[in-house]
Amino acid sequence: MSIQYHEPVLLKETLTLLAPAPGKLFVDGTLGGGGHSEALLAAGASVIGLDQDPQALEFAGRRLARYGERFRAVRSNFAEVGRVLDELGIPGIDGALLDIGVSSWQLDTPERGFSFQADGPLDMRMDPEGPVTAADLVNTAPVEELARIFREYGEESAARRVALQIEKERPIRTTLELVAVVEKVIPRRGRISPATKVFQALRIAVNRELEVLEKALLECSARLNPGGRFAVITFHSLEDRIVKLFFRERSAEWIDKPEWPEPRRNPLYQFRLLTPKPVVASEEEINRNPRSRSAKLRGVEKL
Ligand SMILES: C[S@@+](CC[C@H](N)C(=O)[O-])C[C@H]1O[C@@H](n2cnc3c(N)ncnc32)[C@H](O)[C@@H]1O
Repeated sequence: MSIQYHEPVLLKETLTLLAPAPGKLFVDGTLGGGGHSEALLAAGASVIGLDQDPQALEFAGRRLARYGERFRAVRSNFAEVGRVLDELGIPGIDGALLDIGVSSWQLDTPERGFSFQADGPLDMRMDPEGPVTAADLVNTAPVEELARIFREYGEESAARRVALQIEKERPIRTTLELVAVVEKVIPRRGRISPATKVFQALRIAVNRELEVLEKALLECSARLNPGGRFAVITFHSLEDRIVKLFFRERSAEWIDKPEWPEPRRNPLYQFRLLTPKPVVASEEEINRNPRSRSAKLRGVEKL
């Protein structure tokens, strides 16, 4: 492929975890450029690829067309994976992958509004038909709501001051206008933009990333066949925490509390934990693809 749409992260590690083989069916909930899906298909498996971004579907659809009926692409939020499988008449799957976040293509396309390095409209929707843009939030949300978004989703310590400055300077139309407003509150030091956390927070809020992740974890888990594998790659601590707790909560056969006379069987028990610690990128991968630096891969096997 001549255009580099997105370099798949932790590819080898993800394949080891998912163990694709002929006859197995996987859901790739974050098709993107189709890098992970291609590797699953090349190993002989079948793949249903989901993405909420029609540009990703078009690109990956073209790239993977040569796998014929073993590959199907569906435009959907991965939170709706249960409905998608129902519509296709598929009761169970042998594996699922979520590679959370935006693709390099989305990040590097200024018109999508994800980047604080190039000017573009304040959009940030992965689904271009989504109901709320970053501009809607920035220009209409009450200060308290903006401060909550920056604090909770960006872990930004200057959340309230940034929200107040935004209120003073509204309307703010473009990414670089927003960067300039943030820099009035948090002066630029070193290479990392002071707007990094604010941009991350807005992206999470616009795409409701934490809610849809929680729903997708439940839906994918419910659809896994016994022995099926589930791998999730995240890029920041809030999402990794959700995945870690979800897998951990369901991988313990017994639970205990100080006030109980004895341990009880865990009603949620359904997984064998494959990654007691998250798998991270090798130094070689980080050098080749700096975006892999913060990636964390976790996985389970359905009992
Ligand atoms: C990090 S990229 C995936 C890259 C892919 N694994 C590859 O190898 O090319 C994430 C992709 O998932 C999509 N995405 C993120 N959240 C989604 C969601 N809730 N539902 C559907 N697609 C989503 C984005 O639009 C983006 O194309």
